[in-house]
Amino acid sequence: MRDGHRVPGRAAPVARPGRAAPRAVASRRRPLTCREASPRPPEDTITPDKSVSWAYSEDFLPSDDALLRAADRAAQLGVPAVSPGQGAVLRLVAAALRAGAVVEVGTGTGVSGLWLLRGMAPDGVLTTIDTEAEHQRAAKQTFADAGVRPTRVRTITGRALDVLPRLTDGGYDLVLLDGDPLEAAATVQHALRLLRPGGVVALAHALHEDRVPDPARRDEVTTALREVTRSLRDDDRVVPAMLPSGDGLLLAARV
Ligand SMILES: C[S@@+](CC[C@H](N)C(=O)[O-])C[C@H]1O[C@@H](n2cnc3c(N)ncnc32)[C@H](O)[C@@H]1O
Repeated sequence: MRDGHRVPGRAAPVARPGRAAPRAVASRRRPLTCREASPRPPEDTITPDKSVSWAYSEDFLPSDDALLRAADRAAQLGVPAVSPGQGAVLRLVAAALRAGAVVEVGTGTGVSGLWLLRGMAPDGVLTTIDTEAEHQRAAKQTFADAGVRPTRVRTITGRALDVLPRLTDGGYDLVLLDGDPLEAAATVQHALRLLRPGGVVALAHALHEDRVPDPARRDEVTTALREVTRSLRDDDRVVPAMLPSGDGLLLAARV
């Protein structure tokens, strides 16, 4: 068990050879998380090989030329794109929702956009917002490489907080937030307004290079992401889950 996962103020339960470790006693400070309350000790499931499983999951789906070229453009422009594992989850969610209308904040070079478009309904439209026209030109090349019809992508150049208020309430199946992390709290509130019931908001890079789980990390971006992810976790309007894919992907379905 890693220290960051212990109930604050308590020593870790001691495992005896051949016996299951004792369950943590309920804390008076806060309810146990599901994992702390689990009858199976984490030692049974979390092994030092977890990073191998993570890498295996990231590489689980084969890539293709369009995605590889988009990732190359991202590297050249210094834009951190979503990882293959995150992309696969985004495509899955778009497919499960049969998404016809998706908003993306942070077009980048079109890596996440292409994953989304591949999961969406065949005539679904991706509305993608970015402050940088150069990034959006690269994304258009990505979509063209992949044979996406131009009518399926509405590209808007501008700041998310200027553009999102102009979009229709309840008009979208899925909103991906991958722009300025310092604006994540405000953009989440817009996303919840834009989603139809059952729609999903996804926050990319939600673990910020493993900094968010580490309480010693208190820089501005980490603190902002820790706060916004906790506030979504505790928001009665959504059903949330934090996935370790890529750099962390928080998903929350609007109820
Ligand atoms: C992490 S990258 C997005 C990567 C992209 N989602 C992908 O996976 O290919 C962040 C992008 O957000 C854009 N951005 C930064 N601040 C923004 C803002 N306030 N509004 C809209 N876009 C912003 C940047 O120009 C950059 O292209």
